[in-house]
Amino acid sequence: MAQRYVIAGAKAVTLVDGAATCGLVEDAAIVVDGNTIAWVGPAADLPPAHAALARHDYRGRVVTPALIDCHTHIVHGGNRAREFEMRLNGFSYEDIARAGGGIVSTVAATHGATEEDLLSSALPRIEALIAQGVGTVEIKSGYGLDIETELKMLRVARALGQARPITVVTSFLGAHALPAGADADSYIDDVCLPTLEAAHAKGLVDAVDGFCEGIAFDTAQIARVFDRACALGLPVKLHAEQLSHSGGTALAARYGALSADHVEYATTNDAAALALAGTVAVLLPGAFYTIHETQAPPIQAFRDHGVAMAVGTDWNPGSSPLGSLLLAMNMACTLFRLTPAEALAGTTRNAARALGLADRGVIAAGMRADLAIWDIGDPAELSYGIGINPLHARIFGGVE
Ligand code: NIG
Ligand code: FE
Repeated sequence: MAQRYVIAGAKAVTLVDGAATCGLVEDAAIVVDGNTIAWVGPAADLPPAHAALARHDYRGRVVTPALIDCHTHIVHGGNRAREFEMRLNGFSYEDIARAGGGIVSTVAATHGATEEDLLSSALPRIEALIAQGVGTVEIKSGYGLDIETELKMLRVARALGQARPITVVTSFLGAHALPAGADADSYIDDVCLPTLEAAHAKGLVDAVDGFCEGIAFDTAQIARVFDRACALGLPVKLHAEQLSHSGGTALAARYGALSADHVEYATTNDAAALALAGTVAVLLPGAFYTIHETQAPPIQAFRDHGVAMAVGTDWNPGSSPLGSLLLAMNMACTLFRLTPAEALAGTTRNAARALGLADRGVIAAGMRADLAIWDIGDPAELSYGIGINPLHARIFGGVE
């Protein structure tokens, strides 16, 4: 039921200003009208028209936009705990992939799972994100690699958004890995592109992603996928420069991608290209940590060129079994040297941009009323805590 009320007594971190202050409004008032924010500002300036509304007093807590996890693979079968052990014994992520483990082993488990299995195993994952104040999550396909299983994954992603109070945004990731024994060019032309067409026709695709890497697809193959995405009017994004410099970031920028993700091996030139294209660099410290990567993304080059940086969990069974966006923020600070303010912008304003969503990620009039209220005194505490969840309440579409 549409409601009108005022959130009062809290510090609002609006994210509308420069990264340093995060647009902090001490003693703020936020007017919620149905699923939209109608007004925000210092409580002392609340327009008389709103003065008679019910007040929900949050007693000195901090209000931020609801968090946005802009990169996940939370729909999948099985797990890869054995590979965790293999890495501890000295095998690299690429060694394991080349030996038939890695993504294709999750593909086998996902083929074997029913739609109901996939839904019930993904529900606790989405609930864990909701419990941390997440209001929007991106979910990728890419563990199907055939038409039937890719569609199954995308239907499950859509069903998750129906089953729980969260917005789900889907990315088609048919170009994620090569099925055993397949030829890469034939796979792209004969499986990936027809599957994209079919998934789009069913309304299951919000964006198109790929994995540009030595163990996956090259720039020419990804370009064919992007050409088809553009022909269908779909935005693109890319797993780029995760394990080596493969040219994916420049390609993503050339296509005006929403985001280039991972980007550990991106160069200063890549940063300049991303800035020019307005493409967001999505940082995924959970994968960096899990696969024992040592090369950090070029954060200072991103800052120098004005590239917007987002932070995601990359929650997946292989490279990033990380179920906490707050921990991803902490890791982005400690491992990549983001400031806590940059990490918060990375899971709100810039994460919305990485998904092409203009109606969320900041607290401002006209935006969706997706908010998180935290039991903290300083927004930096969100990144500072390790394994601590200070969420007090979450508001989704105006509903508390
Ligand atoms: O974002 N890099 C490619 N895709 C995933 C890994 C998926 C997996 O290992 O299952 C990633 O790290
Ligand atoms: Fe990923």
